[in-house]
Amino acid sequence: MKTMILYASNYGFTADCAAELKKNLHGETRLVNINSDKIPALNDYDTVLVGGSIYIGQINKKIKKYCLAHLDELQNKNLGFFISCGSPETIEDYFKNSFPETLLEKALCLENFGGEMRPDKMKFFHKFVSNMVEKSAQKDDTPAMRPLPEHIIRMANTINNHS
Ligand SMILES: Cc1cc2nc3c(=O)[nH]c(=O)nc-3n(C[C@H](O)[C@H](O)[C@H](O)COP(=O)(O)O)c2cc1C
Repeated sequence: MKTMILYASNYGFTADCAAELKKNLHGETRLVNINSDKIPALNDYDTVLVGGSIYIGQINKKIKKYCLAHLDELQNKNLGFFISCGSPETIEDYFKNSFPETLLEKALCLENFGGEMRPDKMKFFHKFVSNMVEKSAQKDDTPAMRPLPEHIIRMANTINNHS
């Protein structure tokens, strides 16, 4: 089984999750950062896992466009989708808004990898928003965003058991 993990990450959290996913998958797996790597042809792969982080309710535009542009080819693959974010309560809407419905229906798994803020690396505007979000979460007693590594393992197990 040959797998491609295609992801987008602004400050590295999703990139780390994708690398952890690769570590736990059986068979040959290629990690592809949509912002910096050349995307290989899909015909080499039988499993494709796609994901990214959410900023102001949206996944990376290139991820969205890629799925739409390759809809027919992707329909014939084993599929999985993942999202990293800070608000698990709206995860269903994030999935619906990020990936085509026909692909979501066909997917073997949809996983929320949780989230992490990395303010040291952030550009000014993102740092400003993240401070506001953190303050408002503290005020409302909302649970803090956290990584969910157990969901990475669950996704790897689902894919490994399918092959
Ligand atoms: C400016 C900013 C906006 C964000 N907007 C959202 C959001 O709308 N919903 C959400 O659930 N998480 C939001 N997050 C949390 C990110 O999705 C989370 O920090 C994620 O782990 C970032 O992953 P990355 O480093 O791979 O980009 C936001 C974070 C920042 C810094």
